[in-house]
Amino acid sequence: MKIIMLGAPGAGKGTQAKLLAEKYEIPHISTGDIFRANIKNGTELGKKAKTYMDQGLLVPDELVVDLVVDRVQQEDCKKGYILDGFPRTIPQAESLDAALAKLNDKIDYAFNIEADDEFIIKRMAGRRACLGCGATYHIVNIPPKTEGICDTCGKELVIRDDDQPETVKKRLDVYHVQTQPLIDYYKGKGVLIDFDGTSNMYDVFNAMVDILGA
Ligand code: AP5
Ligand code: MG
Repeated sequence: MKIIMLGAPGAGKGTQAKLLAEKYEIPHISTGDIFRANIKNGTELGKKAKTYMDQGLLVPDELVVDLVVDRVQQEDCKKGYILDGFPRTIPQAESLDAALAKLNDKIDYAFNIEADDEFIIKRMAGRRACLGCGATYHIVNIPPKTEGICDTCGKELVIRDDDQPETVKKRLDVYHVQTQPLIDYYKGKGVLIDFDGTSNMYDVFNAMVDILGA
């Protein structure tokens, strides 16, 4: 079961990927989380990625493709995986397909979570993130059990640096130009399925489970 989560920033990719990963016991691979962990740990990759992320721009393809191609070949990915935030450009998708083809493999589903820009800008203002385990909350819709503390790992929740309203707008612009073309790319491959990202978190999740099977 190899799944790609598509959708604009804030559509709910990370939220659904986490639920699916828990249910199907496969890894949730979020390139955004990988970069944020590198930034937190002060690595060279983190330093490079931060200059782009803080501006709402994409990190260059060469910094992300090899990282993901290596990751999906690790032992824990044998049963499948969920890619969240990758691919994000047509060249990234082509590189992934080429790498998988060499392994006689392919992506099974591209789940596209739909939500318009205005809706996203409003919702993003309430997001809180855990930089420890990558869990995501919303102060109204999906609050943690204890305010400001991650349910899963007990670390403090933060507002992501790139969640300032101006940066969210920039990320949405970048999404429309560089990432949205992937919808047609995966439609052409017959693996695209659309979901309404504005509905309740569990309604979106159950619609995905209907496709994947219990
Ligand atoms: P990344 O971390 O991937 O950010 P993004 O794509 O902008 O997406 P988000 O994580 O902001 O949103 P999401 O769709 O996961 O929504 P969430 O589930 O949190 O990337 C960050 C940056 O890293 C990029 O800008 C780029 O610079 C770089 N990068 C990463 N990958 C890259 C790549 N492949 N190539 C180049 N650069 C790359 O939900 C949002 C909020 O809504 C939350 O508060 C959540 O609790 C709430 N919510 C979600 N679903 C629901 C629901 N159904 N009902 C109510 N509330 C909900
Ligand atoms: Mg996310």
